[in-house]
Amino acid sequence: MYKVVVHRAGGYEQLKLESHPVPKPGDRQVLVRTEAVGVNYADVCVRWGVYESARRLVGWPITPGFEYSGRVEEVGHKVTHVRPGDPVFGVTLFNGYSTHVCAPADLVWPKPQTLDFEAAAGFLAVYLTAYHGLLQNVVIRPSMSVLVHSAGGGVGSALIQLCKLHNLHVIGVVGGSHKVEYVRQLGANAVIDKSTQSLWLEAKRLCPDGYDLVFDANGPETLAQSYAHLKPTGKLLIYGFHTLLPKQGGRINYLKAVLGMLRVPRFNPLLMTSENKGVVAFNLSFLFARIDLLHTAVSDLTTWIEAGSIQAPKVCSFVLKDVAQAHRTLEAGETTGKLVLRTASPLGESYSPSH
Ligand SMILES: NC(=O)c1ccc[n+]([C@@H]2O[C@H](COP(=O)([O-])OP(=O)(O)OC[C@H]3O[C@@H](n4cnc5c(N)ncnc54)[C@H](OP(=O)(O)O)[C@@H]3O)[C@@H](O)[C@H]2O)c1
Repeated sequence: MYKVVVHRAGGYEQLKLESHPVPKPGDRQVLVRTEAVGVNYADVCVRWGVYESARRLVGWPITPGFEYSGRVEEVGHKVTHVRPGDPVFGVTLFNGYSTHVCAPADLVWPKPQTLDFEAAAGFLAVYLTAYHGLLQNVVIRPSMSVLVHSAGGGVGSALIQLCKLHNLHVIGVVGGSHKVEYVRQLGANAVIDKSTQSLWLEAKRLCPDGYDLVFDANGPETLAQSYAHLKPTGKLLIYGFHTLLPKQGGRINYLKAVLGMLRVPRFNPLLMTSENKGVVAFNLSFLFARIDLLHTAVSDLTTWIEAGSIQAPKVCSFVLKDVAQAHRTLEAGETTGKLVLRTASPLGESYSPSH
């Protein structure tokens, strides 16, 4: 089988495509021959060596990748819910960038019929993040006002759709004019284009009383103002820090990152109490032990995608061997929707597994 291995932190050159033996599934595991695997911003952070759960749980070398779709090749003795040949999708705590994924059976689900393999490979990580943020972290009520930063990206576009599905009033923020129409079509009530508009003047104009929820993965660039624009009882949901990181070149500017960390606001519980505002932070990769939460989320999301109530993110795909190009594209922050790697022919031509 082929997989992408990162032996040490660094630029695109660290993404090595290597041949390895196919693993044997344990009693409660499923071996999947992947068709496509999702690319997430977190994978870039893994390559840089700054992704906390990768450092804590794996170290080096590491194969990035949190999600995949494909067909079951073999199942362990205790697995009954899927069989060899079944089309499936799933999440994995790393090891996704591979032609074969050996995953705990609990994290493998039948692929929704409405999704092709590429769309299925890019569906779970962003939608599980959006679902967990919106539906498992806060209580929502119809007509609540929500501000979603980076609304054209993978998680952002999933958040816009889940907000619409739950009758919330949602405003998306994008960093480039080419993303405005995409976010509007997803169902946003309004879109703020930071490249041509003053973000906070416009945010205030659109929602003068403040927001019930603000979703922010930008980090120091916007966190303080996101909090300031909450109404009493509002919640700031923090799930990433990408303004600490570079948009091109593939290498971390450690000085910029450290200076950015110093600008991360410190929230004061005394003030938060008297202002009636809250801050919630979460990371899905520390949630793998909460199978109960993941199962509820996948069950709802599968129902909604099969009913046509939500759409999978628009997908742009690369062959597995072109993983560096996928990382370069994602880092630039110009994409809308999701990037996936095609693994059926990982080298870009017809391929038969050799191990
Ligand atoms: N906590 C979790 O469990 C979890 C799970 C998944 C993702 N995340 C985080 O969520 C964020 C979005 O992930 P995604 O997969 O949706 O990524 P994505 O599709 O690449 O979208 C990210 C968006 O963020 C903006 N951006 C990217 N790099 C930037 C930079 N260096 N500086 C400023 N803005 C930048 C861009 O939007 P605009 O320029 O239009 O704003 C880009 O479209 C990432 O920070 C990721 O780490 C967290």
